[in-house]
Amino acid sequence: MAHEVLFKPIKVGPVEIKNRLALAPTNTNYSDNHLVGDQTLSWYTTLAKGGLGLLVFEATPVSSEAAETSIYNIHHFWGPEHVPGMRRLVESVHSHGAKIFIQLSPGLGIQAAKRGSGVIPKAPSRVNFRMQAENMPESILKWFAGNPNMVMELEGEMAEELTEEEIERRISAYAQACILAVNTGFDGVEIHSPHGYLVHDFLSPRYNKRTDAYGGSLENRMRFLLRIISAAKEVIESRIALGARLSIDERNEDGIHFDEMRQVAMASAKAGLDYLSVSDGCYEQAKYFAPDEDGTMLEGAMGFKDVIDVPVMTPGLHNPDHAAAAIEDGKTDIVGLSRPVIADPEWANKVQNGEADRIRRCVRCNHCIFCLFNSRAVRCTVNRQNGQERFNLNRLLK
Ligand SMILES: Cc1cc2nc3c(=O)[nH]c(=O)nc-3n(C[C@H](O)[C@H](O)[C@H](O)COP(=O)(O)O)c2cc1C
Repeated sequence: MAHEVLFKPIKVGPVEIKNRLALAPTNTNYSDNHLVGDQTLSWYTTLAKGGLGLLVFEATPVSSEAAETSIYNIHHFWGPEHVPGMRRLVESVHSHGAKIFIQLSPGLGIQAAKRGSGVIPKAPSRVNFRMQAENMPESILKWFAGNPNMVMELEGEMAEELTEEEIERRISAYAQACILAVNTGFDGVEIHSPHGYLVHDFLSPRYNKRTDAYGGSLENRMRFLLRIISAAKEVIESRIALGARLSIDERNEDGIHFDEMRQVAMASAKAGLDYLSVSDGCYEQAKYFAPDEDGTMLEGAMGFKDVIDVPVMTPGLHNPDHAAAAIEDGKTDIVGLSRPVIADPEWANKVQNGEADRIRRCVRCNHCIFCLFNSRAVRCTVNRQNGQERFNLNRLLK
């Protein structure tokens, strides 16, 4: 199949992107004590050099409160100490002709707190997550079974309810981080709102039991997200792109489903988003967010595309033929790649050069996710160079 369609430029808000291939946000645990160090810089540079038009930098908390429950070695982005590394990163990515957005998180909600660690997550309500074997990809489950000391556990710590004052602080910290993103040179901000993290927790009737203006009706459950969008938009204006990531369906029976998520997508686009990035499920339904086959999110993406008129980004397309067909058929506008480019950061260049058959294919063993869940730096079973990019100068030099 011809793949030219993947290399047509696209405009996202004020940003011109050279092709339809993006790094879907991918937490790496590569930070140097929460700062951008050589490994982060080299990994993202390798991906930009590998031909992706857009990199969405991994989920990044906007304040110490937003970060406090993280069990991961993630990057932070709120103080002057976080800026120089991020600026080097942006410059390096730009030097290879790619654009870079940052996925900013107002908090991790019920996720990412280790049981018994004494760190209590803050969420809309007093709830926790429980991952069940039947809802996880087998490849991930087997890691848990063989590793009694996994850092991430199958059941999360019970959360404490955020007060209205704390909600206000989360929103103003978000706006501050957006100003920082503009000043650092990022081309866009993506609101981290899928997968059972804080914004998703507010949307979901399973996780949000509030009786105030942030709970109950869909209008109330959407309020936190919509306030973040408007706070972000107010400071960003049209200088850089603003997007959000939404799970098309939480997949928990008593959670938020596709019909309501479509309404969330519509209201979010109307509030000023320049694009929408789709995902699926949540930690309790991990088999949906890291699917074992291609194309599982396309129907949901189309459902969103029917009701909004901004570009949509969709992951879960490992085969370049499937990716090209999805764009050709108008099912998505941009293809987001996570595991495929961990396996082969040259994925985009190989497709563009007619060498798709030379791509080192991701085998969906989900070792990368195991590393993440275990608070280790991401590694790949088919790409032994993954995580070592800082030592590979050939990759970095043109
Ligand atoms: C190691 C790893 C880290 C991830 N980190 C994030 C993240 O920071 N934010 C996010 O929204 N999704 C994250 N995801 C989900 C991916 O963006 C993507 O939606 C998912 O892996 C499915 O796409 P794929 O089949 O191309 O891997 C992560 C996935 C992996 C494998």
